[in-house]
Amino acid sequence: MTKTKYNTETTNWNDSYLLGIPMIDNQHKKFFVILDNLETLNQKQEKSEMHSLINELQNYVIYHFQTEEDLMVKSQSPNIDLHVMEHELFRKKVEEFHHSYYNNNEELLNEMISFMRKWLLIHISGTDAEYADSIKNTLGIE
Ligand SMILES: [Fe+2]
Repeated sequence: MTKTKYNTETTNWNDSYLLGIPMIDNQHKKFFVILDNLETLNQKQEKSEMHSLINELQNYVIYHFQTEEDLMVKSQSPNIDLHVMEHELFRKKVEEFHHSYYNNNEELLNEMISFMRKWLLIHISGTDAEYADSIKNTLGIE
């Protein structure tokens, strides 16, 4: 029996998470670039660089969620309220992440990075996928 190469535990970006909306897909990919860099900096204990990256992550979360929410409203996508609630919970998680940086807790930071990776992948493939068709229609994407 051959072993499959597919790793179900992976929490890295791959193109199966593309929604077919380039603006949103590029923003989603950018999260994983930021999280990869954060993980590396955390391993190396490069605290000052980490701090600016955490700020970047926080700002990017706000920017990205606003982009999605504006498009959802414009496209009259389904279940907008629930979607916005999920975004709000994640925004709070990123704030907690910022606090664990101040507490200088490397292990907690690693756990938070892993949580954010999983959360984003589940959110993208589940909740975000639900709005993809309505947004594609609005933007005229085939
Ligand atoms: Fe979303």
